[in-house]
Amino acid sequence: CGIVGYVGPKPALEVVVEGLARLEYRGYDSAGVAVLSDGKLQTEKRAGKLANLRAALQANPRSADGIGIGHTRWATHGAPTDGNAHPHVDEMNRVAVVHNGIIENFAQLRMELEERGCKFRSETDTEVVAHMLSEQLTEHNGDLGAAMRSVCRRLEGAFTLVAISEDDPGLVVAARRNSPLVVGRGNGENFLASDVAAFIAHTRDAIELGQDQVVELRADSITITDYDGAPAQVREYHVDWDASAAEKGGYDYFMLKEIAEQPRAIADTLLGRVAVDGTLTLDEMRLAPEELRQISKIVIVACGSSYHAGLIAKYAIEHWCRIPCEVEVASEFRYRDPILDPQTLVIAISQSGESMDTLMAVRYAREQQSRVLAICNVNGSTIPRESDGVLYTHAGPEVGVAATKTFLTQLVACYLVGLYLAQVRGLKFGDEINAIIGQLARMPEQVEKVLNTVQPVRDLARSLAEAKTVLFLGRHVGYPVAMEGALKLKELAYMHAEAFAAGELKHGPIALIEDGLPVVVVVPSREGRSVLHDKIVSNIQEIRARGARTIVIAEEGDESVRPYSDTLIEIPAVPTLLQPLVATVPLQVFACELALAKGNDVDQPRNLAKSVTVE
Ligand code: G6P
Repeated sequence: CGIVGYVGPKPALEVVVEGLARLEYRGYDSAGVAVLSDGKLQTEKRAGKLANLRAALQANPRSADGIGIGHTRWATHGAPTDGNAHPHVDEMNRVAVVHNGIIENFAQLRMELEERGCKFRSETDTEVVAHMLSEQLTEHNGDLGAAMRSVCRRLEGAFTLVAISEDDPGLVVAARRNSPLVVGRGNGENFLASDVAAFIAHTRDAIELGQDQVVELRADSITITDYDGAPAQVREYHVDWDASAAEKGGYDYFMLKEIAEQPRAIADTLLGRVAVDGTLTLDEMRLAPEELRQISKIVIVACGSSYHAGLIAKYAIEHWCRIPCEVEVASEFRYRDPILDPQTLVIAISQSGESMDTLMAVRYAREQQSRVLAICNVNGSTIPRESDGVLYTHAGPEVGVAATKTFLTQLVACYLVGLYLAQVRGLKFGDEINAIIGQLARMPEQVEKVLNTVQPVRDLARSLAEAKTVLFLGRHVGYPVAMEGALKLKELAYMHAEAFAAGELKHGPIALIEDGLPVVVVVPSREGRSVLHDKIVSNIQEIRARGARTIVIAEEGDESVRPYSDTLIEIPAVPTLLQPLVATVPLQVFACELALAKGNDVDQPRNLAKSVTVE
């Protein structure tokens, strides 16, 4: 989502809408604004692109008193409709609020408000905040800052909130927890936005809000406190990017930004789904536990990177749930008369929710009476709409054509489905299920660690820019990781790249090995499957003896591979089934850097499209 707030002498509506346009790269499914017009709160909001909002504003022009807030929505709770679009207002139309993030305890808060007679108009978690702010405004004699602090103390989850009220027409109040928010300091005017791109045309002086802080913004003052009202420490900085770099958060390409965003994307996908005691809540899947207990077979259909996520999911689901699981590229699926029945759960993985091949597979599966669960990143897209249930990944919009953060969050969603199925079917394997849930919750940190140590991969990639072919080897979940590494290299660097199951090497591919041929090997974790680990160490020796240049991705502290590695890339030690989350990251960086070294546009590789809506 994108958020904008403004207070100052300029036409507020224009400043806010222009700010929203600058955030367009974040993706849109609806947009809205609230202003004060002659002291009265007025809102306008529309589903669809910003153009729809602009048209509505043109059809119904209004003045604004130098204050306004705006929002572009990337739906999480509730479909992308006019009613669910932000801003949301209270029943008296006294306060308007926009929100990014997810309020985890909204169901509880909504129930409490309804018990007090409050009438809700939308399905969003945000609307509870509008009603709570209204109650607290009364409590605090119209002091919006105090009302916001008091509301925030009751909220759980991740959020950025921005509000204005009729009680104090010169004030914008915002709050932040785990979701981005920056203040732009102007001259006699001030700005707020989810990123600097929204206000860079007006000022380059920015203040980054810290965790759990509230800002009160007037045309000539900025006051920042914690949720208890104590003055807060903040970081001020000067932005030296231009507008287009600002959209990319200072990175040269969206892909680089999206790779860097992966820890947060994983955290957002886990948010609200894993309780402290390890219980998973996936009610939004809309598949009742009773139905899930009846399933006798799972079939995963997907394309491209999403297919690789499915291949990894198979290892996890079969191991944790003991349900047979097939994975198939969606374009092949319906043409071979697959065996489906009402006890088959078909999982369609698609970041865009629009890939025609996957959609056709979904329709076919439903015709055969199978239950269909979609794993998607785009709320309200076609595949989730046509499926029985959906589990959204919360990666945020992905602009780069090659999947990065959506791929890792698809893995997280697949793990959640597998673990949830194990839970509802009462499978525990001693403590394995609980232990793995605990480890999953720590994966954002582990991926962060990889990102912090990835520089040598960049240097390596630069040194290989002239290579003609790169081979990738892996075993177990490392095999689909190798496939994803090879796909990334094809997509971005336009190089021939191929992945093999390391065990297959001796049955043919080893004939390809010649002097200096780069071979990337994903080494399985040592935990539990040391036999596999040792076998792949032998494979590395075999190819090296035949002249291959070995690039080895292995757990930190795995000394057994060092003597045979021309380059050793260390990743954190994590449970085997979760290893793809850390092992894929160096491969993304490798492909991206190699493509950049060749001068390719990594955001828009030749011949490819972000979502392919033809069969
Ligand atoms: C296109 C993209 C790939 C993507 C595939 C599946 O081919 O270029 O990066 O993995 O579609 O897309 P989906 O949106 O269904 O996950």
